[in-house]
Amino acid sequence: MVITPLTKLFNINFPVIMAPMFLVSDINMVKAAIKNQIIGTFPTLNYRDTEKLEEVITELNRYSSEIENPGVYGVNLITQKSNPYYKKHLEICIKHKVPFYITSLGNPKEVIEEAHKYGAKVFCDVTNLTHAEKVYKLGADGIIAVGLGAGGHAGPDPLQILIPALKNKFKDLPIIAAGGISTGVGLHSVLVLGAAGASLGTVFIASEECPVSVEYKNAVVKATSEDIVMTERLSGTPSSIINTEYAKKIGYKQSWFERKLSNNSRTKKYFKMLVQLKGMKKLEKSVKPGNYKNLWIAGKSVEFINEILPIEKIIEKLKNELNESLNQNIK
Ligand SMILES: Cc1cc2nc3c(=O)[nH]c(=O)nc-3n(C[C@H](O)[C@H](O)[C@H](O)COP(=O)(O)O)c2cc1C
Repeated sequence: MVITPLTKLFNINFPVIMAPMFLVSDINMVKAAIKNQIIGTFPTLNYRDTEKLEEVITELNRYSSEIENPGVYGVNLITQKSNPYYKKHLEICIKHKVPFYITSLGNPKEVIEEAHKYGAKVFCDVTNLTHAEKVYKLGADGIIAVGLGAGGHAGPDPLQILIPALKNKFKDLPIIAAGGISTGVGLHSVLVLGAAGASLGTVFIASEECPVSVEYKNAVVKATSEDIVMTERLSGTPSSIINTEYAKKIGYKQSWFERKLSNNSRTKKYFKMLVQLKGMKKLEKSVKPGNYKNLWIAGKSVEFINEILPIEKIIEKLKNELNESLNQNIK
C-alpha cells in the first residue's frame, strides 16, 4: 500500500484518479472507481440534461454510502465563460454536496468558494506555473499538472519538468500528475518526481465498463504513441486524438479566419461556443458504433494499452506493476 498526501486527504488506498473524460466517463465507470477505492470523476457535461445530472449525483451519493470502504467521486466543471451549462451544473453539484471537484479552462474562484462552504475539495487542472499560481491564491486544495502526451487538452511541458517545478513552488499542496501514465512504472516515476498521485484517462477508455463503441476501444488498444496527433479542430484548443483517416481529412489547424474570430474580444466568446458545439456534435457521433467519421480523443499512453479489461483488473494491474517497480533495484 502506498501512502501519499492524496490517499490521506481522501482516505483511499491507491493514489489514482480516474480522470474526467468528455462523452466517455459515465456513472458505471465512476461506481467501479468508488468500489475499488480510488477517485472516479466525470465531466458534468456528460449529463447536460440537468435532471439526469441530478439523478446521477443522487445515485452516486447513495452508492458511496452503501459501500464499506468506498473511494470518492467527483465532477469536472469547465469554468470557461463559453460553457453555457456551468452555472446550472454548479448549482446542482452544490445542492447535492458533491465531495470533489476538478476545474478546467477558466477561473475556478466560484467553485472553490462554494465547495469550501461544506468541506468539499477542489483540484484545478493547470498546464503551467502561472495558472498554478492563480489557483493557489484562490485556495485550490490540489493542482492537477497536465503534461505533454495527455489525452485531451495536453500541456506543453513534460511531467519531469512540471511536477518538480510545481512541487518546489507549492510545497503544501498535493500535485497530481496527468498525461501519459497507463502503467505502474509510469505512476512510480511521477511519485518519485514529487507527485501525490496521478490522474489517468486514456487507460480507462479500454475498460469493459466504458460506454463508448468497441471500435473506439479497439483503436486505443491498437494505436501506438506515434498515432496520436494534436488538433485544434475540436474545441479551438489543441487536443490529442488518434490519427484516423477522418482526422487526416479534416486537418489539424484552425484557418486564419477562425483564428481571428477566436482572438477578437467581441467575437471570442460566441465563436468559441460555436466551435465547441460543432466539435461536441462530431465527437458525440464518433463515440457511437458504426460511424466512419472517427474522431477519437486519446493520449500517448495508448502505447502501453494492449487489451480491454474490467476496471477492477486495470487497477489491480497498476498496483502489481507499481509494487514490482518499487521493489526493483536500479542495475
Ligand atoms: C477521451 C478524453 C476526454 C477528455 N475529456 C476531458 C474533459 O471533459 N475535461 C477535462 O478536464 N479533461 C478531459 N480529458 C483529460 C483527462 O481528464 C486527463 O487529464 C487525461 O486523460 C490524462 O492523460 P492520459 O489520457 O494520458 O491519462 C479528457 C481525456 C480523454 C482521453
